[in-house]
Amino acid sequence: MSVRISPSILAADFTRLADEAAAVADDADLLHVDVMDNHFVPNLTVGLPVVESLVKNVRLPLDIHLGVADPDRWAPGYAEAGARSVTIHAEATITPVRTLRAIRAAGAQAGLALNPATPLEPYEALLAEADTLLVMTVEPGFGSQRFLDFTLEKVRRARRTIDALARFGGRRVPLWLQVDGGVNETTIARCAEAGADSFVAGSAVYAAADPGAAVRALRARAED
Ligand code: DX5
Ligand code: ZN
Repeated sequence: MSVRISPSILAADFTRLADEAAAVADDADLLHVDVMDNHFVPNLTVGLPVVESLVKNVRLPLDIHLGVADPDRWAPGYAEAGARSVTIHAEATITPVRTLRAIRAAGAQAGLALNPATPLEPYEALLAEADTLLVMTVEPGFGSQRFLDFTLEKVRRARRTIDALARFGGRRVPLWLQVDGGVNETTIARCAEAGADSFVAGSAVYAAADPGAAVRALRARAED
């Protein structure tokens, strides 16, 4: 099974972002950037100027997770800036179809994120418009939170739905099933077993003495 590992720079040293990205560049598939606006989540991180610099100075493709109240306004700009993937939250978007299409039209992969308490079913029809479904495994906002076990059931259901879509020819490209929050060497195996194939990990990578080795260890556990 092919998996993607996306280290989250939320757990990195923000004064040394290029070095922190370089530390995982040989081992990771993407670099996860949490854009937070202090409205959708109670935390404030970075915005478009920092992402534009990262696009220029970092070898890994960027995986932008928009924890913002108005993703319909902001998402296309991140795609135009050169991000590989831009993910919006189902709870925040008012016009998901238009925004997911705008992300793709700007040349990026489009992602739809669900908070732990948000059910998948109302959003199933949107999967045809998306390249990634992100099932949050903690409430968004902060790193180092404890993995919420009850979210695994949604991962399992999402895997069945995605596989059924593929079987009935409803997909032109693979739909990644991503998890984000509390992912470590133990929980990543449980997420993979439930059907996830794309993994965000912040503290499990950047709290480690050797972030590259931590990514390799996570990948080995996910591929087990
Ligand atoms: C949480 C963010 C995550 C965060 C994960 O709101 O979306 O990307 O960085 O951090 P860990 O892996 O430490 O739970
Ligand atoms: Zn995130």
